Amino acid sequence: MAEEKPLTVVTCTAPVNIAVIKYWGKRDEELILPINSSLSVTLHQDQLKTTTTAAISRDFKEDRLWLNGEEADVGHPRLQSCLREMRRLARKRRGGSAGAAAPLSLAYKVHVASVNNFPTAAGLASSAAGYACLVHTLARLYGVEGELSEVARQGSGSACRSMHGGFVQWLMGERPDGKDSIAQQVVPETHWPELRVLILVVSAEKKPVGSTAGMQTSVDTSLLLKHRAEAVVPERMSQMIQFIQQRDFEGFGQLTMKDSNQFHATCLDTFPPIFYLNDVSRHIIALAHRFNAHHGKTKVAYTFDAGPNAVVFTLADTVEEFVEVVKCSFPPESNGDQFLKGLPARPASLSKELLSAVVLEPVPGAIRYILLTKPGPGPQPLDDPNLHLLGADGLPCPSA
Ligand code: DP6
Repeated sequence: MAEEKPLTVVTCTAPVNIAVIKYWGKRDEELILPINSSLSVTLHQDQLKTTTTAAISRDFKEDRLWLNGEEADVGHPRLQSCLREMRRLARKRRGGSAGAAAPLSLAYKVHVASVNNFPTAAGLASSAAGYACLVHTLARLYGVEGELSEVARQGSGSACRSMHGGFVQWLMGERPDGKDSIAQQVVPETHWPELRVLILVVSAEKKPVGSTAGMQTSVDTSLLLKHRAEAVVPERMSQMIQFIQQRDFEGFGQLTMKDSNQFHATCLDTFPPIFYLNDVSRHIIALAHRFNAHHGKTKVAYTFDAGPNAVVFTLADTVEEFVEVVKCSFPPESNGDQFLKGLPARPASLSKELLSAVVLEPVPGAIRYILLTKPGPGPQPLDDPNLHLLGADGLPCPSA
């Protein structure tokens, strides 16, 4: 006879995503409903991912959460929204499937442990991967299926886009209850195999204004943001989808840069203004434009979120040359750290013409490192029990 299991444990991983049509501004702060649709590229989990283990046991006294090994506040309202929603869906599922006994009690408390395979300090958005992973993991734990981006959205808006791989749109929806504000895959990551993503991690001294607070001030004060949401984004969404479907890098790259620039323009139009780009970000922008001008076409495209780090899209045949250009423009300080992390790239030699046209006034040490990655799949289960972050006692494993 099978022994009763004291603990039910599930572990999953989820990706980071980077928007090429930006989400900025909510029409409902509670439900996290946006003022415009947005579109993103899901990044590969070999380079950037969150891993989450969730466990339930009748022995647990309370819900508990550990983030990167440290116990964190489980009472956070957005975390509570996701937990509540998942338990509600689990209850509904149980009620709906007549006779099918739920495998576990919904009254049991849950323990959740989550880690990132990248430093949180790098300023790379981790809340998207974090909430996507939480929702995906709880769904597996409770046996909930179906539309879950709507739940992840209530953790962090951009998290709903991390529920899918490849190229993903978040439809703003119209309904006040948010049921139609969901993320959908446009095409899978295999659609554009040559696409590469370089994250240029800028050495920044201070933490910028968080996106939640920043976008609310923008909604309250920026007329440009209102215009953008109403009159600019709808057309850009359909253009971007076409460029992606056609694998048109020229179109994709130009629109990506324009949309990032318009987002940062709305930040400047916010009152008091918000500055996410710094001098190094602006150097990278100028460098990308000189690089493209030298080649007579769009070969690299930058985008920036709520911080100074650049995310640069390019095609595989341009990676090595551009990495070398970045190295020459921002000579790494010899702190023993690898400058290029992630996918491998060979060193390239640059022509004199390229160097003199593109590399002007180098700024040593301004970029800490480059992370090379590519589009990747959505959340995944981890079936190997050795990879659980919670041990048999329901507490974080020493290695987690
Ligand atoms: C600039 O999703 O972090 O990265 O919904 O308040 O959690 P909340 O905000 P968040 O905002 C992301 C803003 C952005 C653009 C984007 O990812 O679309």
